[in-house]
Amino acid sequence: MKLTDVRDHLGDCHRCALSESRTTLVFGAGNPKADIVLVGEAPGAKEDSDGVPFVGAAGKLLDSMLARISLDRSGIYIANVLKCRPPSNRDPKPDEIETCVPFLFDQLDAIQPRVVGTLGNFSTRVLLGTREGITALRGQVFNVRGWTVLPMYHPAAALHNGSLRPEIERDFLRLQEFANPDRSSA
Ligand code: URA
Repeated sequence: MKLTDVRDHLGDCHRCALSESRTTLVFGAGNPKADIVLVGEAPGAKEDSDGVPFVGAAGKLLDSMLARISLDRSGIYIANVLKCRPPSNRDPKPDEIETCVPFLFDQLDAIQPRVVGTLGNFSTRVLLGTREGITALRGQVFNVRGWTVLPMYHPAAALHNGSLRPEIERDFLRLQEFANPDRSSA
């Protein structure tokens, strides 16, 4: 399936209750042939109004992290576990994740990236099929369906706890390293 087919299949989704409170379904954005896909949690208020992932405060931090490794949004693809904003940015519920995640996997199957950076607990658990948390999994490398999966802190973590910023910078340097096909000469 192509990415546009996945979007068509999702349609004006009403498969879960989040459709009642959302303004805009946030499918994902970026390069459909990207080597790198970043997967966040769910849209926040600004994403819900603009229809684009990571355009709020966490998105600004994400952009600056990407710039540090000489990337921008045009070279990667960004998606979320949930396509619709949970009210008041509460955590995604298990039934919402279960309903929405097949579309995330369809997106990844369509893009076939080399590396998937999972930002925070929810996307890490979904991709790896684990209950373990991000703090334990960060720094490890996994292979899922041929994709190299790198668990990373969610950029919003640095907004809540500034001391995590250097750790997040380190995560992005690892992302760059694994995305570079010529890593051995680095
Ligand atoms: N946080 C996320 O996880 N995703 C977004 O799109 C915005 C903020």
